[in-house]
Amino acid sequence: MSHPDDDAILAAAIAALRRSEVIGLPTETVYGLAGDAANPAALQQIYALKGRPAGHPVIVHLGDAAQLDDWAREVPAAARTLAARFWPGPLTLILRRGARVMDLVTGGQDTVGIRVPAHPLALAVLRAFGGGLAAPSANRYGHVSPTTAQHVREEFGDELPIVLDGGPCAVGIESTIVDLSGELPRVLRPGQIGVEAISAALKGAVATGAAHSSPRVPGALRSHYAPRAPAELVARAELLVRADRSRREDERAQMLAIGTLPDGGEGLALPTEPEAYARHLYAALRQLDAEGADRILIEAPPTDPSWNAIRDRVQRATARTSATEADDAP
Ligand code: TXA
Ligand code: MG
Repeated sequence: MSHPDDDAILAAAIAALRRSEVIGLPTETVYGLAGDAANPAALQQIYALKGRPAGHPVIVHLGDAAQLDDWAREVPAAARTLAARFWPGPLTLILRRGARVMDLVTGGQDTVGIRVPAHPLALAVLRAFGGGLAAPSANRYGHVSPTTAQHVREEFGDELPIVLDGGPCAVGIESTIVDLSGELPRVLRPGQIGVEAISAALKGAVATGAAHSSPRVPGALRSHYAPRAPAELVARAELLVRADRSRREDERAQMLAIGTLPDGGEGLALPTEPEAYARHLYAALRQLDAEGADRILIEAPPTDPSWNAIRDRVQRATARTSATEADDAP
């Protein structure tokens, strides 16, 4: 039984969505900026709020895998297999778009990204709403994704009156994106569901990385998911030396270490287990920013495949300091 207040909050959110408004929506990965995926006014509001350049596709969230064929055409068997295995869950499928899907959703491409999120509040909203919800991560373009309702409020303030609070996200990094529109399944964005798990479910080979003909993925821009302070990747053994150099330059460097901070080091330590690390990563980057770090020294994660998605995100979070913005233009 749900609490009467919860019912009222849910009803207000659904009413807002039906008025073409946009809301902050928790999912198990990160919070989304959600609007009616069949409504151009809602899509335009999402783009305006995020400050995201036009032409970047957004993911359509559904309450049930049975709605897949409303949004995609020529759905391959592999999509049914992955949907059955991983939905609701942190997996986005790129499929050939259905006839009704707007260019505002797909960025004008012939494909559409779809997922069924595994968060009870997201599912309650989706099922009450009935249609698809376009929901990019609820952060300004290029910034770190939000993993709490408070992060979303900090990001948008009064510009986003309704932010549903579903607690801290259980996964903490964005969904795995698998492109099923080409010859071979291809992981375009690594996530908690690893390449090995996708490959095992499909009983076949899975490619990784963007192919030349792959659809565009803004998350694949090098500088993305970035904190405000310049961040760099530093080997464990070099952390103290690097922090000393900052100190001599009157720069307040803060470490984001794994397990423990090195003796005398300042900053935060994240868990040694990859899923727990991922859960806390974005909140930690935001905290170090909020505390006024001039520079963030991120301990280089292990090379084990279980850290692939994390390595991807921390590499992007640190790309700004090693690449010019021009390099990151799509
Ligand atoms: O975990 C997630 O996926 C979160 C939560 C809110 O669901 N959403 C998310 O959305 O990360 P966003 O917009 O920040 O990133 C979605 C990624 C983008 O990189 C976008 O380019 C890609 O999905 N994408 C969406 N549709 C696509 C398409 N048709 N082809 C290729 N990439 C697509
Ligand atoms: Mg995003």
